[in-house]
Amino acid sequence: MSEIYRASTTAPVNIAVIKYWGKRDPKLNLPTNSSLSVTLSQSDLRTHTTASCSPSYPSEDALLLNGQAQDVSGARTQACFRELRALRQTLEASDSSLPKLASYPLRIVSENNFPTAAGLASSAAGFAALVRAIANLYELPSSPTDLSRIARQGSGSACRSLFGGYVGWEQGAATDGSDSVAFQVAPASYWPSMRALILVVSAAKKGVSSTTGMQTTVATSSLFPSRASETVPRRMAEMQKAIQEKDFETFGKVTMMDSNSFHATCLDTYPPIFYLNDVSRAAIKVVEVINEAAGRIVAAYTFDAGPNAVVYYLEENEKLVAGLFKAALGDKDGWKGARGDKVESNADALQKA
Ligand code: ADP
Ligand code: DP6
Ligand code: CO
Repeated sequence: MSEIYRASTTAPVNIAVIKYWGKRDPKLNLPTNSSLSVTLSQSDLRTHTTASCSPSYPSEDALLLNGQAQDVSGARTQACFRELRALRQTLEASDSSLPKLASYPLRIVSENNFPTAAGLASSAAGFAALVRAIANLYELPSSPTDLSRIARQGSGSACRSLFGGYVGWEQGAATDGSDSVAFQVAPASYWPSMRALILVVSAAKKGVSSTTGMQTTVATSSLFPSRASETVPRRMAEMQKAIQEKDFETFGKVTMMDSNSFHATCLDTYPPIFYLNDVSRAAIKVVEVINEAAGRIVAAYTFDAGPNAVVYYLEENEKLVAGLFKAALGDKDGWKGARGDKVESNADALQKA
């Protein structure tokens, strides 16, 4: 029996407060604008991935996602495999005692414990976990920055899930993508009272994938150029300052405005893309009611490419924010304990709120 080499890892989702939407180079996954997110390490939303390799495996690389075989022939997955193998080959070339893992077929087994392709950043947690699991398997000395450069080629947003806390993705200028990497703006411990409430409005697979959606937006939206070249660069600076100063009012306002701006470019796409639904809009209304009641911004909604809401707030406003959402939603089993991120799986009641 030949030996099987194996390594496992987990990666959390990240939810952007300044959205990535648009590629200047679809092959290398280079974005039209920088973006910024919070890695939801405390949440229940994560990918668990085991990478293994063996000379005894069938010759084709394989990926099993939630128990189903995936096509690994796509350029994105292939780019990740190729880059990681090349790094392993460099190690093997410098030390002949190392097993020749780079030449063995790979078998990746991955599980998302939350809805896949539903606008809850499964591609982010998924490719971050895939890249780190293989890097662990190959015992690569790569830094999180190096891994973010590789994960970016699997899915753009994945580069940010390799760091914890408040994370930026610098769009970069190089045509080869060498400077298009994630960086930590601040660790979670810098502003530890940040909380995220996750409302799973629908677990269904989105109608238009992020990849397709953003490419149609770039090709057809007349709002898009000013978003990418003016609005987002200004907000990136505002957002980084808000985080440095732990200024939730600005953090929240910019978060909500950027989500609205992103969804406006989706509506301005031809044919139009509708990621938000009536329940999403009801969640926006609840946040507005909460902020009006507080007389300041204590809650901030944001939506990725799907109807599911993420609401950021500070722990000190837990009663106010979570309390009002709870009142609007009714007492549901999906409601989790007092600390950390929460998932409410039945948001139908919101519509009636
Ligand atoms: P999401 O909003 O969930 O990120 P996307 O449209 O961006 O949706 O990407 C969904 C795709 O990401 C899936 O169809 C699958 O190809 C890929 N993906 C999701 N999870 C994983 C995973 N754990 N490992 C590898 N690829 C994954
Ligand atoms: C709305 O990273 O999923 O969630 O690079 O084509 O895989 P690909 O797209 P993806 O797009 C994420 C879009 C977003 C915003 C964000 O996460 O920044
Ligand atoms: Co995605």
